[in-house]
Amino acid sequence: MTQDELKAAVGQAALHYVVPGEIVGVGTGSTVNKFIDALASMKDRIKGAVSSSNASTERLRAIGVPVFDATEVGELSVYIDGADEIDPRGYMVKGGGAALTREKIVAALSRRFVCIADESKVVPVLGKFPLPVEVIPMAARRIAALFEAKGGQAQVRLKDGVPLVTDNGQHILDVRGLQIADPLAFESEVNQWPGVVTVGVFAHQKASVCLLGTLSGVKTIEY
Ligand code: 5RP
Repeated sequence: MTQDELKAAVGQAALHYVVPGEIVGVGTGSTVNKFIDALASMKDRIKGAVSSSNASTERLRAIGVPVFDATEVGELSVYIDGADEIDPRGYMVKGGGAALTREKIVAALSRRFVCIADESKVVPVLGKFPLPVEVIPMAARRIAALFEAKGGQAQVRLKDGVPLVTDNGQHILDVRGLQIADPLAFESEVNQWPGVVTVGVFAHQKASVCLLGTLSGVKTIEY
């Protein structure tokens, strides 16, 4: 099976967690795109979706799923999203698609976070994937220096040669060289730094379940 087929398999498997008649939280990325494709088959049995990015909103609307603003809904039963890394406790690094802030907001609104990923995303310790951090641009340099003191090297993410601008109008730092052994403490600490909008460690909003695409089929891991 190719990586693309593994993503399609977990996207399909995630339908099992969507509650008919309710609004589903939908993340961002190539694995979530497979989930959205699969969701087309049950679009008439759900009320709609809350989306974590403009890209997913467009894709959901294209298949006829009504998209609600997060401020219009109460608690969601489930949020389905991918990850850049997931550790054995269900702690994740996310934000490779620059949607981490809205992803964390929709995850926080949801009772369950179902992570869909292929097995290349499983790591013993978070930090191999460059850690995305959404920052207010005027703070970027100081935040980069704070990461340097922790052994990380931060770079502003570029798009077409200029800093990428997120859906929230901010920039992303990608931090290499970290080993995040205590994700809960790390997330809490970095969140306190002035100018950090969101750090891409999802420990306080960790996965409840991971549907992992492997060569021997989709494995369900509960945390
Ligand atoms: C976007 C994310 C994605 O969930 C993460 O980057 C995984 O993406 P993909 O499914 O394309 O590998 O956090 O901000």
